[in-house]
Amino acid sequence: MSNAVSYEINGAVAVLTIDNPPVNALGLDVRQGLVAGIEQAEANADVQAVLIIGAGRTFPAGADIREFGKPPMDPYLPEVVSRIEACTKPVIAALHGTALGGGLEVALGAHYRIAAPSARIGLPEVNLGILPGAGGTQRTTRIAGAKAALDMATGGKPIGADKAQKLGIIDKIDDGDLKQAALAYAGELISSGAGPRPSGARTEGLSDESTNRAAIEDTKAILAKRARGQFAPFRIVECVEAALTLPIDEGLAFERAKFLECMETPQRLGMIHAFFAERTCTKVPEASRAAPRALNQIAVIGGGTMGAGITVAALDAGLPVVMVERDAESIARGQANVEKVYDGLIKRGRLDAASKDKRMALYTPATDYSAMADADLIIEAVFENLEVKQDVFKQLDKIAKPGAVLATNTSYLDVDAIANVTSRPQDVIGLHFFSPANIMKLLEIVVPESPADNAVSTGFALAKRLKKTAVRAANRDGFIGNRIYKAYGLCATYMMEDGASPYDIDKAIYDFGYPIGIFQVHDLAGMDISWANRKRLAATRAPQERYSAVQDKLCEAGWFGQKTGRGMYVYPEGARKGEPNPDVLEVISEEQTRLGITPRKFTSDEIMRRYMAAMVNEGAKVLQEGVALRPSDIDVVALYGYGFPRYRGGPMKYADMYGLDKLLADLREFELEDAHFWKPADLLVDLVAKGRTFEDQNKES
Ligand code: CAA
Ligand code: NAI
Repeated sequence: MSNAVSYEINGAVAVLTIDNPPVNALGLDVRQGLVAGIEQAEANADVQAVLIIGAGRTFPAGADIREFGKPPMDPYLPEVVSRIEACTKPVIAALHGTALGGGLEVALGAHYRIAAPSARIGLPEVNLGILPGAGGTQRTTRIAGAKAALDMATGGKPIGADKAQKLGIIDKIDDGDLKQAALAYAGELISSGAGPRPSGARTEGLSDESTNRAAIEDTKAILAKRARGQFAPFRIVECVEAALTLPIDEGLAFERAKFLECMETPQRLGMIHAFFAERTCTKVPEASRAAPRALNQIAVIGGGTMGAGITVAALDAGLPVVMVERDAESIARGQANVEKVYDGLIKRGRLDAASKDKRMALYTPATDYSAMADADLIIEAVFENLEVKQDVFKQLDKIAKPGAVLATNTSYLDVDAIANVTSRPQDVIGLHFFSPANIMKLLEIVVPESPADNAVSTGFALAKRLKKTAVRAANRDGFIGNRIYKAYGLCATYMMEDGASPYDIDKAIYDFGYPIGIFQVHDLAGMDISWANRKRLAATRAPQERYSAVQDKLCEAGWFGQKTGRGMYVYPEGARKGEPNPDVLEVISEEQTRLGITPRKFTSDEIMRRYMAAMVNEGAKVLQEGVALRPSDIDVVALYGYGFPRYRGGPMKYADMYGLDKLLADLREFELEDAHFWKPADLLVDLVAKGRTFEDQNKES
């Protein structure tokens, strides 16, 4: 028997228990164990039914993703599932935890399914750039119809046991001891003489042809927008379509072929990289050395854009929040900002009034700093001005309880300069949220010179509580994200000044897979913010740095973007989507004349070659300076904070796939025109010289 699947006889039932922590992934050992178990049960005349169950926290959560890309090893999962389905004795699967992907496919290979009420069931392969390759699309369609199969497999989100039962995927739910309940169910099946009931032979889901057809067409329309640029979701639709018309064997073969096509794509590499990257980024030295401090109540200073968003994120997570503002009028505005978010959700039917009340009951408005005396963690989100922030921290030093973590949400300022005005720099960290803070998943945890390990690990604990993905960043200007953003933003601005239309640049970025282009982002965020930052840095700007004044000119005209109805784009009354602003082209042309630039053409390919080279090169500098711990952390920042297309894995993964030598050659080519901006990072030069990749660095970290 395999080490990962135990076999025991319980009365007339052979029990196969999968034990492969942490998530019982279907690695080789498990696959072999399942086949051996089924064969052993079949060969034993005393066995009348087989039960498959998971040990520990879950039924298998899928194929073992770590095996992908390695030489295939017999038996393959589809064979295992087919072998289970072909068993001559009834097979029951008992589901708890998360029965996902290959896990659900194994369960569908069984003839009957019982689940714990809390079980989650799903086909999340699409999140990995692949599709259910062991019959998931075929058997789900046959049991539950095209809509259910498409929703599960193209949406990738698990459903609850209740819903799965309504769809016919689960036969029975039991809230007692799952193994006992499953054995009792097996007993019932044996006594009633119920034999094997292969999912592949079921047809309930195929009967309503017109509904199934409509589901296919609806999904195609939805995916055209939602899954733009992706490969796997459209192949899933083809598989479900095949399930509607082909005999099961042909359907399974079709699905397998599509699965293998997906496995060959760079998108699969990108998305699996993202899966592991977002789990690795929380592995930081401070958290491994020290447990977090208690986190029962937090305070937020400032009720503006960020303060309100952070407050909503905390209230949503059930954390009591004290919000402090400057005066009665400001705190009333701060509270209104919080309520506006909830009212918007209520209006769209995504929250009910009672849930809003429940959240607001955890909210305490205040204008006096003493209201924060009991807070375990205080997040400052006041104006981006060092003196103002230092003043806030001096006051916090007086009133915060000993051991409270004091955090600043600054975008660019020096966290040490803030920490050092207090008598307790060991408690001070940066918590850099992204706007809108209740929605954006990224949280940069900024580590200045002298925080205690447990202050940093508390930051990570907060992120987990808020369901955010946290990345550790050292305290350098712009941390990880804004620093790299600034570099490729400059690159875009230079291309614009050299002749590429900003609208062509945005289109190239959009076609690359970003949700919007960089100039659209500027308009959304407000160009006044980067304008203020440019002014702040003017005195320290390197003399050899190329400076484009195009956006300053637009700001001088009062065109900040969406908030002023005009920026790089014009926004007719209330519109969120802008039209090109003809005045911008005029300003660019004036600047070209002033600087003696003869505009030239840029293809989309060149635009993206430059854009990515600037991004990756700055990423390499961030790494060599120790601002990020590992390349994959930079990928996570780009994916969760800046809209980088997930199916490309992140900029550093993209660079590995593009070829670091090729990327360096691009930089060398661009360096001829601007040696300062395009100077290749030493790290990149070194990696290329040694024939190494960012992935090698990830492995070392
Ligand atoms: N294969 C290998 N390792 C896996 C894994 C898998 N399918 N799923 C999770 N793990 C690992 C994680 O990398 C993590 O490892 P470390 O502790 O070393 O970081 C560990 O298991 C625990 O995972 P999480 O930290 O994510 O734990 P969680 O409790 O937050 O979430 C989970 C559990 C919901 C199962 C989540 O891990 C998850 O969504 N896993 C992936 C599920 C999935 O995509 N399944 C489909 C796989 S593809 C497939 O099955 C193809 C096919 O049809 C043939
Ligand atoms: P904002 O201007 O919307 O809000 C700032 C709030 O702070 C105002 O409501 C103001 O009344 C209040 N305030 C000022 N001084 C105060 C004091 N001494 N005590 C209490 N309250 C005080 O600014 P926003 O956009 O929310 O930014 C806040 C911080 O977050 C800044 O440091 C900014 O750089 C950072 N940030 C902003 C992002 C954004 O996209 N807006 C993104 C990430 C960080």
